[in-house]
Amino acid sequence: MRQRSFSFVILATAVSAVVLAQQVSLPAPLASHAKSMVEAASLTGTATVQPLPGEPMTVSFWFSKPNKYRIETNEKTWVCDGQNVTTYDKASNTYSVATMDSPVPKSVEVWAWASFFEKEPYKYAQAAKTGSKRTVKGHKVTEVTVGWKDGEETLGTAYLDENNVCWGFNYKSGEKEWVVLAEQVTKGDAALENSKFVFTAPAGATKAEMVAKATFASVSKVFQRNCMPCHSSNQQAGGVDLSSFDTLMQANIVVSGKPEESELYKVISGPRPSMPKNRSKLTEADQKLISEWIKDGAKGS
Ligand code: HEC
Repeated sequence: MRQRSFSFVILATAVSAVVLAQQVSLPAPLASHAKSMVEAASLTGTATVQPLPGEPMTVSFWFSKPNKYRIETNEKTWVCDGQNVTTYDKASNTYSVATMDSPVPKSVEVWAWASFFEKEPYKYAQAAKTGSKRTVKGHKVTEVTVGWKDGEETLGTAYLDENNVCWGFNYKSGEKEWVVLAEQVTKGDAALENSKFVFTAPAGATKAEMVAKATFASVSKVFQRNCMPCHSSNQQAGGVDLSSFDTLMQANIVVSGKPEESELYKVISGPRPSMPKNRSKLTEADQKLISEWIKDGAKGS
């Protein structure tokens, strides 16, 4: 039998979209689990989450097709009603509401179960293999590991029993690791009651202000108000022209993803920012917007 070596596919080509379409074939237990997730109408469970290192916590989840979920941990609650996702922080008693950008929750705490919402579960896997058999909380399971690259190299190992129930998983991303073991998991044939997916703010909770989305258009408005006329195409003080995305990038003052290393962010932040020269410093919100935009990859649109 041919052994498939377990390594990441290195995509050294510009046509990565085409290369990515070559899916790895999922090991039988995972393929069969994926199929049962696609068929299920609801999925609920409770698990213990152990971050390594870190304090253990409990997670409970209620998933309902096509796109509703509630996830509760000791620290946070996420509720998605199919249109908006509300994130509630217990310690500060604050919550915020954002438009749902994907029906699949991104919380690490429910990684393997979140495949319930995927049209083709584990399609993103770039490698997959079956591991050993073991017993997890009295359930006989097979370990199946999938690997993919999500900024960091990430490995998820799901613990699957012969009835296609996932009793937990291990999730490793870069230096970080989580071990998640289920107390109880239930698959259902019918969608869950809508009431589970309505967020009711607890007494005294405050709604956090939504920060403007960090697009170049919004960053550019900050430049228009604060950096002109010194950094226009006519007046490129310090060789910096902030009048367009292209000229900004030519100035070499942005390290994509890293605001702390970007000259653009360094000159406007800190206790005594040097820019805008001879004017009052940018508001916290404007500084944060520029930082977020760089963090998000400093894109042109
Ligand atoms: C009143 C004019 C003026 C304004 C307004 C101004 N700058 Fe500058 N900027 C300068 C000058 C002049 C330099 C050249 C270096 C120096 O003299 O400090 C400079 C240099 C820079 C540099 C190059 C790094 C450095 O410190 O030399 C960056 C980045 C920069 N400015 C960003 C900004 C940003 C962002 C804003 C708006 C938030 C802004 N500047 C507003 C005049 C200005």
